[in-house]
Amino acid sequence: MIVTVIGTGYVGLVTGACLASRGHIVRCVDVSEQRIGLIRSGRVPFYEPGLEQLVLEGQLSGRLSATTDLAAAMQASELSLIAVGTPAKGEEPDLSYLEAAAAEIGLQLAHLNHYHVVAVKSTVVPGTTRNVVQPILETTSGRKLGEFGLCMNPEFLREGSAVEDFQLSDRIVIGQVDARSGDVLDELYRPFPCDKLRVSLEEAELTKYACNSLLAVAVSFANEMAALCEATPGADVDTVLDALHLDRRLSPTGPFGRVQPGILSYLRAGIGFGGSCLPKDVNALRVYGRRTGVATRMLDAVIAINNHRPIQVVNLAEAVLGRLSRKTVALLGLAFKNGTDDLRSSPALSVFRALRLRRARVQAYDPHVSREAAIRAGLDGSYRNTLESALDNADAALITTADPAYRTADWLHLTSHMRRPILIDGRNILRNISLPAPIRYYPVGAGIVPAGPAPSDQPSVPRTGVPSGSSAVVTANDVLLES
Ligand code: NAI
Repeated sequence: MIVTVIGTGYVGLVTGACLASRGHIVRCVDVSEQRIGLIRSGRVPFYEPGLEQLVLEGQLSGRLSATTDLAAAMQASELSLIAVGTPAKGEEPDLSYLEAAAAEIGLQLAHLNHYHVVAVKSTVVPGTTRNVVQPILETTSGRKLGEFGLCMNPEFLREGSAVEDFQLSDRIVIGQVDARSGDVLDELYRPFPCDKLRVSLEEAELTKYACNSLLAVAVSFANEMAALCEATPGADVDTVLDALHLDRRLSPTGPFGRVQPGILSYLRAGIGFGGSCLPKDVNALRVYGRRTGVATRMLDAVIAINNHRPIQVVNLAEAVLGRLSRKTVALLGLAFKNGTDDLRSSPALSVFRALRLRRARVQAYDPHVSREAAIRAGLDGSYRNTLESALDNADAALITTADPAYRTADWLHLTSHMRRPILIDGRNILRNISLPAPIRYYPVGAGIVPAGPAPSDQPSVPRTGVPSGSSAVVTANDVLLES
């Protein structure tokens, strides 16, 4: 099939490259000449594992091309997939890119003398495809629905594993205005062996929000449990959640042992969720709820918990270090999660801002984030381009992305660069690692039996449950009660 993909961001370029790898002829279109230039030279404008190779292979095979010329790309094409951004504008998605793309497609539809389907892949609230995209297409093309087809085909890939997610999709949801439109998407996805659901446009739109909202619920639930554990002497959220995960309704046992469903990785304490999707999508659904007269009480709480979580983590840093003013904190991680360079709504940036508000000096490092991107995100002079320079003379290191490299790092050597060997683990990634004795380790979501007061300007002294030879585990409640 000849396919046009409009928008070469995470979703558009991954979609285009994966479809080309399965034999389709794909023309990727973007308004950004810079992006198209990069893609043509075999590079990818953002970090996504495995994508550059796939783009290169697609171009070498002649099945994948990139252009800014929509008219040329839509020639002989049977399907246009719209994958432009719908970024948050306040609490609602900004539809201006989608509207512009629909208008441009409509103008080209007017010239096509064969049946063409337009499918929205961008995440939009229920009703948008029917009430916003369809009228624009009809007005600009001068054609009625039926003369062209219309679908809504939500995308579920995750940044950091986007190629794998697309190639091994769990399910493909085809929201169709009529069966003829849906048949074209069915044909497109024939090489992808997974469940395919043919649903209404509105069900497709809502499915995407339902999926992301459930993930956000899981994260905020775990973080609320973490806050409760932090306030409970003797409690450790990881132990509590480990026990929860062992419920066979969450992790059933099969012939080869216990199954570990992916949702369990969201049921973990941390610094909160971020990225270009979860916060934006949960907020959009709340606004949609208000418009339709439905109170979204649970989603409201999910966002409130998430907004507060970075502050709770900075409270922990303050409890550990005393007043943060003039203290130096090495912030290890800027992207919203490991394996990506995406800074959109990153909770690590919220932690950064909260530290700066308390006048801490911050030295931030993220292996995937460039100095320019960090400065655009408001990092001023805080960016460091190596782990060592971030740790240099720091009073504490605060881990904000779960980079697996931290699990094998030589922390004894690394902390020798610091003023004090203090690790605060915002992702609890080092929880089961035995760290050498001089290192003081503070996970999130743990409270232990408090002891007597410690000087507020000094790091807290570990006192219980520390196996000899391993690092000192001091928990949030311990230091909160001390300071
Ligand atoms: P993005 O912001 O990375 O990329 C959007 C691209 O569209 C940009 O390259 C931009 O230049 C281009 N563009 C804007 N207007 C255009 C036009 N009129 N014609 C051609 N190109 C145009 O966006 P991303 O992250 O790929 O997201 C796209 C949509 O997919 C959003 O609605 C998002 O919510 C949704 N989504 C994103 C996921 C993710 O992990 N990033 C996962 C699933 C869905």
